[in-house]
Amino acid sequence: MPATLTNGHTNGHTNGHTNGYKVEKSSSSSTDLLTLALDVVNNAANIKSLLAAQNLPAPDFSPDSVDLPDTPELAKLRNQLVASLDDLRQLALGPRRTLRSLICFSNDLAAFQVAFEFGFFTIVPESEDGIALADVAKQAGIDIGRTRQVLRLLCTHRVFREVSEERFAHTAASAAFARDDNFRAAGGYGMDEMFKAASSTSDTVRASPMKSDLEHSPFRTRLGASMFEYYEQHPKQANRFAKAMAGVASVDRKPSTLGDMFPWDTLKGTVVDVGGGSGHIAMALAHRFPHLNFLVQDGVQDMLTQGERLLEKEDPSVASRIDLLLQDFFEPQPPMERLAARGPVAGFFLRHVFHNWNDNDSINIARALVPALEAADPETPLIISERVLPRLGEGVLLHEERSMRQMDMMMMVGLGAKERTLAEWQALFSAADERLVVKKVHGEAASAVLEVVLRK
Ligand SMILES: C[S@@+](CC[C@H](N)C(=O)[O-])C[C@H]1O[C@@H](n2cnc3c(N)ncnc32)[C@H](O)[C@@H]1O
Repeated sequence: MPATLTNGHTNGHTNGHTNGYKVEKSSSSSTDLLTLALDVVNNAANIKSLLAAQNLPAPDFSPDSVDLPDTPELAKLRNQLVASLDDLRQLALGPRRTLRSLICFSNDLAAFQVAFEFGFFTIVPESEDGIALADVAKQAGIDIGRTRQVLRLLCTHRVFREVSEERFAHTAASAAFARDDNFRAAGGYGMDEMFKAASSTSDTVRASPMKSDLEHSPFRTRLGASMFEYYEQHPKQANRFAKAMAGVASVDRKPSTLGDMFPWDTLKGTVVDVGGGSGHIAMALAHRFPHLNFLVQDGVQDMLTQGERLLEKEDPSVASRIDLLLQDFFEPQPPMERLAARGPVAGFFLRHVFHNWNDNDSINIARALVPALEAADPETPLIISERVLPRLGEGVLLHEERSMRQMDMMMMVGLGAKERTLAEWQALFSAADERLVVKKVHGEAASAVLEVVLRK
């Protein structure tokens, strides 16, 4: 049945989808219960129309149901839908019930922590009729009582479902963890060292009320070592952390979008990937841009050793254009002849480097690049892949802003560091050298590329 629904906040245009639904374009900044509810209906209807037009199933909670495709059109509708739903839920619950749920949320995280630590996601089989509670407990090596407590709380999140009395099977969400090692690693690390560290945040701020850095981070307070030291000392956790980063990247800021966000095709020569880790991003870019060479630098030999292994498996036409170099980014760059061995330096690329460091350290990283920028051709850019936090009134949806602010807080908890607004980015570069200017911001807030040049 076609549905035409108006919410009083529409501009009168339809979105043109006639596949069973004809709905008004919706976008509500209203906080009226009914307006929000209509917004939900409109956005849900539009999503279903789009999916039907592409012969794609609508999402449900069954284990084979997957995330909505990330096309720009669907992403926009999904984001509006979630924004209205979030507000609708808060209004329906009211402030005290909303906060009650929040106050109790550490218990939900505790249940997740046990499920990750004791392997619940892989113990529960993919079969329709699932597994008996006693068997989950036996395989996990823990008592039945606490296994039941944990599973039943998780079921309320639609993570596992109780198919019959004391038998548990997967849902879409639990299956996502079961099937994807990297995503499960992200959950495991989030509930283990990061959850532990987060619980020491106010203790850390009290002990160090005016200073936040690697040494004055909740992670260090709780785990007894800075994040970098901890992973050096704990190879098993370090391996999980590396997988977790890949798991998070599969949802958030997919590296594949980087190729479209910056005009790499206009560069010539060698891109120096500063703090480039194993070089996985340089390799992806080298596939896409066959005219570019890459010099991947990292200060951690293990990263480069991983990179050598990856390069051995790479197509020779790609591997032959990538070099690896041990280089501390707090130190000046090697001489230009070394950097430009395969052609002029096209730019210095820093992905997810600065957000790991507080302002002082970040200024030092940027400053260490200045002599190389002076020696390079004019307008040679620093290409910086990071978030740009929104300013007040920029109109970013609250739940999208929350994802960014969660990362900002995570940088504080893990590393005593932060995410930055555009003004903070510019201030950072100016403090490193007053000739450094942000020439352009490519992409959008959650996934931006800042182009910074040295005005000579
Ligand atoms: C968050 S990772 C980002 C890696 C890569 N750019 C990416 O986007 O996947 C930060 C990188 O900085 C490296 N690193 C940490 N301290 C460093 C230093 N002093 N000099 C150079 N690299 C460093 C780490 O080993 C790690 O590979």
